Amino acid sequence: MIVAVIHGPNLNLLGVREPEVYGRVTLEEIDRRIAEVAEELGIEVTTCQHNGEGAIIDAVQRAGCEADGIVINPAGYTHTSVAIHDALKAVRIPVIEVHLSNILAREDWRRRSMTALACEGVIGGLGAESYLLAIRGIVALVEAAE
Ligand code: DQA
Repeated sequence: MIVAVIHGPNLNLLGVREPEVYGRVTLEEIDRRIAEVAEELGIEVTTCQHNGEGAIIDAVQRAGCEADGIVINPAGYTHTSVAIHDALKAVRIPVIEVHLSNILAREDWRRRSMTALACEGVIGGLGAESYLLAIRGIVALVEAAE
């Protein structure tokens, strides 16, 4: 089983970016923890980070051909991107959206997720743990569909 993890814009700055909101954990550390969970579950996980909307759409389309499931943090595009929503709708594999912070407990405009409309589930507010739970969730969804 292959799970594609896609990190959106500004997540490369984790560790120094608004630590009061996102904590001090770096993206490298999150990817390291994801790799540990992947090993524990006996699955393959690929990770990538893109700041641009088009590059994220390309990554989603590629995952649609090469992976069994997607875990995505669309970051700022969560709230605005029709195009990423449409790309997620187009792939025929399960998708779980993740957020480090609890977007429902922040600014009004952050409470709406355009991309979540195209996802099986959403996990947020648990920091790096959101990703790890999402990996387990995708594995459960893929296995249930087999
Ligand atoms: C985020 C929440 C988004 O609203 C924000 O734009 C981000 C990170 C999160 O993981 O909490 O960049 O997706």
